[in-house]
Amino acid sequence: MAKDKVHIFDTTLRDGEQVPGCKLDTSQKLIIAERLDELGVDVIEAGFPISSPGDFASVSEIAKLVRNATVCGLTRSVEKDIEVAAEAIKHARRPRIHTGIGTSDSHITHKFKSNREDILERAIAAVKYAKRFVEDVEFYAEDAGRTDNDYLARVCEAVIKAGATVLNIPDTTGYCLPEEYGAKMKYLKENVSGIDKAILSCHCHNDLGLATANSISGVINGARQIECTINGIGERAGNTSLEEVVMIMRQHPYLNLDTGINSKLLFDTSQMVSQKMGMPVQPNKAIVGTNAFAHSSGIHQDGVIKNRETYEIIDPADVGVSESSIVLTARSGRAALAFRAKNVGYELTKLQLDAVYQNFLKFADRKKEILDKDIHEIIETSAIDLKSLA
Ligand code: KIV
Ligand code: ZN
Repeated sequence: MAKDKVHIFDTTLRDGEQVPGCKLDTSQKLIIAERLDELGVDVIEAGFPISSPGDFASVSEIAKLVRNATVCGLTRSVEKDIEVAAEAIKHARRPRIHTGIGTSDSHITHKFKSNREDILERAIAAVKYAKRFVEDVEFYAEDAGRTDNDYLARVCEAVIKAGATVLNIPDTTGYCLPEEYGAKMKYLKENVSGIDKAILSCHCHNDLGLATANSISGVINGARQIECTINGIGERAGNTSLEEVVMIMRQHPYLNLDTGINSKLLFDTSQMVSQKMGMPVQPNKAIVGTNAFAHSSGIHQDGVIKNRETYEIIDPADVGVSESSIVLTARSGRAALAFRAKNVGYELTKLQLDAVYQNFLKFADRKKEILDKDIHEIIETSAIDLKSLA
C-alpha cells in the first residue's frame, strides 16, 4: 500500500533564526535554503518579511533562488504585514503566505484585549486578504495547544471557507501531552466541515521535551504536515527536530507515513546549520549528535562488533554518518580493544590481548578517552613480549 505523504515544513530560517545568537546574514541564509531544497523539504519558511529590511531582503532572495520547495513568509493578521510578505515572495515558483492570530483565551484576553468573535473576524479577514496575493495561504491559530477545541474548530472552519489551504495548529508553549495533541487533531478532523479541503499542520515547541512526540501523535491522528527545524533549534527550548520526525516515520514503516527527505544529507545539514549559527549540537542529540552512533560500554561494544543491530536501530549510513564508532574508555572490554587495535594494525592473539588489556585499563583510568595514538603507546609499553604470546 502506498504510504501517505507527510509534508515537511522547515522553519529553521524563521522560528529557528529568531533565537538569540542564531542570527544569520542573507548569504548564510541562501546557503542553508539551497541545502534545505536539496534535502527535499516541501516548504521553506524563509522569514517574517515585515520584521526588518534585512529579513525582507533575505526572504526575497530565497524566493528567487529556491527551485523545488514552496517559499513561505510569516505575517500577523495585519494587512501591511500581508502586503509586505506578498512582495517578498513574489518571485517564488511556489509562494505561500503564512498568516494567523492567537486563539487561546489567554492570548485573546491578555494580548489582544479582545473577544472570541472579534478574533474570528480578524482571522477570516486576514486569510481573505492574503488570498488576493497568493493561492496558497496557511493559517496559524497561535497557542492552539491551549485553545478550547470547540472554538478552534469554529476558527478552522471559517478560515477554510475564506480560502486557507493549510491549518497550522501550534502548540506554541509546548504544553500539550502527546495524547492531548493527537486528540486535538482528531477532533478537528471529525468536527470541522470542509476539513478535507485543507492540510492540518503540526507546529510543536519543546518546552517539556515533547515536541517530537506531539508532532508524531499529530500525524498519527490525521495531520499531514510537520513544522520543524534542523537540530530542533527555535524559540526557548526549540521546535520539533526535523531529523527526528523524518527518521521516526522511516524507521516505523507500519505508520504508513513518509516524507520526501533525502536522509543521507541529515548529518551534514545539521553540522552546516550548527556552524553557520554558532549553535553547537548536543553530543547526545538523537540522530545527528556526535554520540548518536558511538558505543562506549563494554557490553554494548561487544554486541555491536558481533552485529551492529544489537544496539543500533538506524544504519548510520542512512543519515550520512560514515560508520558507528567504538569509543575506548575504562568501561570498554577486550572485544573493543581488539577491534580498535586491529584497525590500527595489531592483530592480537587471546593471550596478547589479555596482557595488553591490563595496561590499557591503567591508561584508561587516567584518560577520558583512548585515541588511536594511545593504542600504539599502550601496546608498545605493555610489559610483555608479544612474540612470546603469539
Ligand atoms: O509557535 C507558534 O505559534 C508560531 C506561529 C507564529 C506559527 O511560531
Ligand atoms: Zn513557533
